[in-house]
Amino acid sequence: MATIRIDRLTRVFRVGDSEVRAVDNLALTLDTGALASIVGPSGSGKSTLLALLGGLDTPTSGAITVDGRPLHQLAADDLAAYRRTSVGFVFQDFFLLSHLTALENVELPLKLSGMPRAARRERAEGLITQVGLTQRAAHLPRQLSGGERQRVALARALANQPRLLLADEPTGNLDVHTGRQIADLLVELNARQRITMLLVTHNLDVARRAPVRFNMTDGALHPAHPAAS
Ligand SMILES: Nc1ncnc2c1ncn2[C@@H]1O[C@H](COP(=O)(O)OP(=O)(O)OP(=O)(O)O)[C@@H](O)[C@H]1O
Ligand SMILES: [Mg+2]
Repeated sequence: MATIRIDRLTRVFRVGDSEVRAVDNLALTLDTGALASIVGPSGSGKSTLLALLGGLDTPTSGAITVDGRPLHQLAADDLAAYRRTSVGFVFQDFFLLSHLTALENVELPLKLSGMPRAARRERAEGLITQVGLTQRAAHLPRQLSGGERQRVALARALANQPRLLLADEPTGNLDVHTGRQIADLLVELNARQRITMLLVTHNLDVARRAPVRFNMTDGALHPAHPAAS
């Protein structure tokens, strides 16, 4: 079953008199549980595509369906609910709250979705363990390494059991070795839980870990050539 169906998706930004076709007549179909990577030059529309898939932005035209839900037709409230319950985001810059511990950062989305205190503490502890940070649960973000911060961000993204994980350059601020560990973790989580994952990266080693690979140029996706992978 396809989780993601995108057809003739276009997002045009207008700034003054000029127009940027950040996503241009793009098509994509991904099966449930797929792990796909996207590589492409700066400005090719990768982040714009993830924002559209995550319900953070709305298309100029075209269709995006996630688990049968047509995002392009959802009202603002329904799109907000989709964002909160169905999608997890991981970014290059981690975006952890600096005054909260690792555990509390993971707990936050559970609190926002109304889970009672004891239950959310237990789930957050489970997630912290899954990403290998049991010994760091009480650390503040500044007391964590970059790789550890990204593990916390990943645990937080998984908190509400999303169907879809969108990662935009998750290893971009990490050294090669740490980046590889984060990629390992994504592959492992993808295998263990049936979360569909879309991973944008400039790191070809990380991109090659994904069984499904695309190149993005000028707002469109092309299957990565097997010989080049
Ligand atoms: N809010 C916006 N308003 C106007 N133009 C935008 C906006 N967001 C993105 N763009 C333009 O759309 C194009 C695609 O941007 P996008 O951020 O999707 O690229 P990217 O592939 O993620 O690049 P990078 O690898 O540098 O992160 C760029 O030309 C950018 O300038
Ligand atoms: Mg980007």
